[in-house]
Amino acid sequence: MRIAVVGAGYVGLVTAACFAELENDVVCVDIDKEKIKNLNSNIVPIYEPGLEEFVARNKERQKLKFTDDLRKAIAKSEIVFICVGTPPKENGEADLSYVEGVARAIAEVMSSYKVIVEKSTVPVETGEKVAKAIKSYNSHNVDFDVVSNPEFLREGSAVKDFMQPDRIVVGCESERAKQIMAELYKPLKAPIIFTDIKSAEIIKHASNSFLATKISFINAIANICELAGADVGKVAEGMGYDKRISRAFLNAGIGYGGFCFPKDAEAFIRIAEKFGYDFKLLKSVQEINKAQRKHFVNKIEKALWVVKGKTIAILGLSFKPDTDDMRFAPSIDIINQLQSEGAKIKAYDPAAMEKAKSVLRDITYCNNPYEAAKDADALAIVTEWNEFKNLDFKKIKSLMKHPLIVDGRDIYNPESLKKEGFAYISIGRKDVF
Ligand code: UGA
Repeated sequence: MRIAVVGAGYVGLVTAACFAELENDVVCVDIDKEKIKNLNSNIVPIYEPGLEEFVARNKERQKLKFTDDLRKAIAKSEIVFICVGTPPKENGEADLSYVEGVARAIAEVMSSYKVIVEKSTVPVETGEKVAKAIKSYNSHNVDFDVVSNPEFLREGSAVKDFMQPDRIVVGCESERAKQIMAELYKPLKAPIIFTDIKSAEIIKHASNSFLATKISFINAIANICELAGADVGKVAEGMGYDKRISRAFLNAGIGYGGFCFPKDAEAFIRIAEKFGYDFKLLKSVQEINKAQRKHFVNKIEKALWVVKGKTIAILGLSFKPDTDDMRFAPSIDIINQLQSEGAKIKAYDPAAMEKAKSVLRDITYCNNPYEAAKDADALAIVTEWNEFKNLDFKKIKSLMKHPLIVDGRDIYNPESLKKEGFAYISIGRKDVF
């Protein structure tokens, strides 16, 4: 099929490369000329396992093209995926001006039937508005259908999530578009859930909000475990064997970050509000998430007694492992709070240090965990990169001024670290000294 993907961000690039891999003819469009120039030289602007190979291979075999010519790309396609950004406005609502711009451009150049698919995360009723915008700017009265096909891609495993999805959600209200979408996704052999457009839009926000709720729930339980002297890892394991609950997304820690959960939870609260529903549950999820970062900083402060003038080594800056994404990363709040107390910060991250430089100030960036640990009064685990799981603790201890590890992701065994001679403080478990 001939596909245009509008927007070459995380979602657009992965969608374009994967549909090309699945034998479609794809053109990916972005207004950022520099980005398009780079992509045409096989320079992929994001770190996403498998993406570079897919881009290079499919460009080579002419299945994938990049352009900044939106109109030409739309004119030649049967299906147009809208994958442009929906950043948060000041009041937390999603800014839909890019989506509207694409809808208008589609309307103006459309000369044959098209399926227009919203893949960006949008508030319920956006499909209706897209259809209305296209109708009002489409002077030739060309037939079209709008479909909502939300993405469920995680950063760091987006290509895998696209190629092996748990489910595909298609909100569509015409038989013609339904057939086309079913044909398009046939090679993936995943269950396709067909719904009306509004339900598909809500499925996306509800899914992300539910996952955020699981995380805040387990973080609340972690707090109770700390007070009671229990172990949140064991509690999560015991709960997780119940298939109705499942162990996934029950890792206690410093709370969720990234560009999806914080912005989508906020947007969903605003959407509910507009319909007259006060989404108190989701507001509590946000509060717990915010408090968890502060709780982590408090643990460091309590362990050091006085933070002013102390050196704290931060391992991990990205909002989660296997990505260089710093957007809404918990590390930002944590470092800012520690710096405001007068701490000196050394940091190491395997991928995110370049991006961190534009959001964090006065940090000594290091080449590896050992360089970060040198002369530190405390070592704080902020992102659970695999490379931090098997450190040489004898070396770390010999380098640090004071053998204290505060682990925001519970990646170590408390007893093992105690044996290595560390004071070890983690989340939802007993501290060991
Ligand atoms: C999330 C969803 O998982 C995707 O399904 C969705 O498509 C995407 O948002 C989106 O809307 O675009 P992502 O933000 O890439 O994907 O990352 P996740 O792996 O879901 O992690 C989100 C945050 O939750 C991270 O900060 C992570 O550290 C935290 N988390 C996750 C926990 O604190 N505990 C857990 O048990 C799991």
